Amino acid sequence: MPLLEIEDLEVQYARAGGPPVKAVRGVSLHVAAGETLGVVGESGCGKSTLAKAIVGLVRPCGGRIRYDGVEVTQRAWAGREAYCRRVQMVFQDATGSLNPRMTVAAMLDEVRRVHHLAAREERGQSAVAITRLLAQVGLPAETAGAYPRELSGGQCQRVSLARCLALEPRVLVADEPVSALDVSVQARVLNLLRELQQRLGLALMLVSHDLAVVRTVCDRVCVMHNGVLVEQGAVRTIFEQPAHPYTQALLAAVPDVDRALQAREA
Ligand SMILES: Nc1ncnc2c1ncn2[C@@H]1O[C@H](COP(=O)(O)OP(=O)(O)OP(=O)(O)O)[C@@H](O)[C@H]1O
Ligand SMILES: [Mg+2]
Repeated sequence: MPLLEIEDLEVQYARAGGPPVKAVRGVSLHVAAGETLGVVGESGCGKSTLAKAIVGLVRPCGGRIRYDGVEVTQRAWAGREAYCRRVQMVFQDATGSLNPRMTVAAMLDEVRRVHHLAAREERGQSAVAITRLLAQVGLPAETAGAYPRELSGGQCQRVSLARCLALEPRVLVADEPVSALDVSVQARVLNLLRELQQRLGLALMLVSHDLAVVRTVCDRVCVMHNGVLVEQGAVRTIFEQPAHPYTQALLAAVPDVDRALQAREA
């Protein structure tokens, strides 16, 4: 059974003096534990809106989201807290998603306390937990005392990953997690994501406009166009035999993914 199932999801944004923007229209998809699903499509096609709807940052106006077989509703619901903890999101702008006035340790501590994971702990135990979280994302223990401005973009993205991991997520939605990073750092952060996904058996949804990245990292891929999911399938099938004209056009815009990848690895 897929861990996360989306059925006929609809999201609209109200617009002053005009009809609403239908950002996501009738999207259905699923992600299983241990699986990586890529979401691709041109700018404005609704990828981030879909991601935000899944984690509850925007409210869908139609359709269903099921987590572990149970429907996630917007209303007061006993499972809501568990859902918010188990389904986490990392953003493109890692530095901006961190609180500039808090140290890394304070941020990790806060998220654990909000979710009652650290309520009964002594201070020392909390420091141990924080060191362990930082180690999981490849950061030294000293990072705990740093403020976001003292860290690089890649380090900030690692901290935001650590903040997600603090909640022991089962689903991770990553919206362009490396596109704001220096090319030399991108591969390392992607490798970390992939390693965490495999080690923890996460269901990973990776939103990216970078087809080479999606091809390397994902098992399956969804192609979006104007809010609609036009095609989905195994990465290999979609890249080698795209059925939908839009997917064909998208792939044609990157003439040789393999060559681009090789150039990057060289
Ligand atoms: N807060 C908002 N209010 C109104 N319209 C919005 C809002 N956010 C997004 N939109 C519109 O919804 C559509 C989908 O936007 P979305 O950000 O989901 O696209 P995207 O695929 O993530 O694009 P990109 O690749 O540039 O990140 C666009 O037409 C956008 O202008
Ligand atoms: Mg986006």
